[in-house]
Amino acid sequence: MASIYLQTFGCQMNAADSNGIAHQAWSMGCTFTTNPEQADIIILNTCAIREKAESRAYGRIGQFKALKEKNPAAKLLVCGCLAQKDRALMRERAPFIDALLGPREYGKLKETLTAWGVATDAPPPDALFRAPAAEEDPGQGGFDEYAHLRALVNITRGCEKFCTYCIVPYTRGPLESIPPEEIEAQIKMEVRRGAREITLLGQNVNSYYHPASKLDFSGLLLRVGAIQGLTRLTFLTSHPKDFGPDVVDALSRLPNVCPRLHLPMQCGSNPVLRAMARLYTIEEYLEKIEHFRARLPGWALTTDIIVGYPTETEADFLRTLDVVQRGTFESAYIFSFSPRAGTPAATMMPQVDPKEKIRRLQAVNAAQNEATRRFHESFVGETVSVLVQGPSKKDATRLAGKTGHNTTVVWPRDGRTDGMPLVDVTVERAFNWGLAGQAA
Ligand code: SAH
Ligand code: SF4
Ligand code: F3S
Repeated sequence: MASIYLQTFGCQMNAADSNGIAHQAWSMGCTFTTNPEQADIIILNTCAIREKAESRAYGRIGQFKALKEKNPAAKLLVCGCLAQKDRALMRERAPFIDALLGPREYGKLKETLTAWGVATDAPPPDALFRAPAAEEDPGQGGFDEYAHLRALVNITRGCEKFCTYCIVPYTRGPLESIPPEEIEAQIKMEVRRGAREITLLGQNVNSYYHPASKLDFSGLLLRVGAIQGLTRLTFLTSHPKDFGPDVVDALSRLPNVCPRLHLPMQCGSNPVLRAMARLYTIEEYLEKIEHFRARLPGWALTTDIIVGYPTETEADFLRTLDVVQRGTFESAYIFSFSPRAGTPAATMMPQVDPKEKIRRLQAVNAAQNEATRRFHESFVGETVSVLVQGPSKKDATRLAGKTGHNTTVVWPRDGRTDGMPLVDVTVERAFNWGLAGQAA
């Protein structure tokens, strides 16, 4: 019986793909280990979104080279977005890699594992399938008892937006919407397995369209929102261009949808938004969120921002900073532009000086931290419902979880709440990173 070590970098799409990979391997009789030295097969699911993600993956591949020298029988499969983007380079520079599979090629996984001697007809072990937690930290690749409470369900594959900085359309290919019956069946299966929160996944969920059933994203939301037993429903990511009032309307009618919206702004200045090919102006963006705020009060709005995009001037940057300073977002992921070879922005001139990019990143981060802390402070004294994630990584005497707004909450472990999927916590203190309190 082959033992697999699986490590995942990157976004939730990769986490969802890793679950699929693990499930396929499990159904062929494979088991999982958290120790690569004990594995017969090492699978690394990689990301190429920024330079840093790439160098981490290459660093890990280098470690596996040394490991394979000690144990030449072990097989190394590199998959995911970087495997797709750098396939030729990896073949040339890392010939010790036994197989490469891009994000649209997991249909070939069985074939690959079979060629390595994994029996296809081995019955799955009796135990219920549990995907190894998709953790970047190798030491954390556990199988924790809470992981099944959350499930990721793809509704689209690929992306055709071709934002000028982004590698994803090249690594994940054209847009494809998954038939609603398949989505429904997967959600029902996850709910049967104990999932309390379902995240519908797509690079741009608003571009969902299934021609045969004439179903768009708002229709899909209403359809899956009615599934019995589903406690929390949420979705990632929305592109502002296609985010319309019909979606806001559907969200306002769903009792189990989490009160949060992730709507990446990227930049607060029109010339840069145009250069990024984001297909909206900042005025259109702000109008959309004004409508959203009016219809869905109490929701958390989160965003992605890139600073230091080529041609970004001080004035452009100050517009972004201003939007953040006004407290527009409850939380934000802020990135410094990282040139991706093959994308138009990589060769666009002038590029922003690396030191200047860091300065802009820190300024926007500081402004957002203020807004995030204010948001967290508004919960002090309130009781919030928390979906448990498990023992806190920093302090195992505490449990940690997330509110419907996706805010982290920690509370002391006293045995009373151990094993419970959802816990009511009375908030005592607020921090930049989240909230601390006591089980109610
Ligand atoms: N499909 C999603 C985002 C996918 S990538 C969307 O369109 O919103 C997640 C985030 O990474 C992006 O929103 C963007 O802010 C950031 N990102 C993508 N490419 C980048 C690059 N080359 N440099 C820095 N940040 C980047
Ligand atoms: Fe990348 Fe733009 Fe597609 Fe998002 S919408 S994945 S940023 S190309
Ligand atoms: Fe990375 Fe691919 Fe996701 S590049 S962010 S793993 S879509």
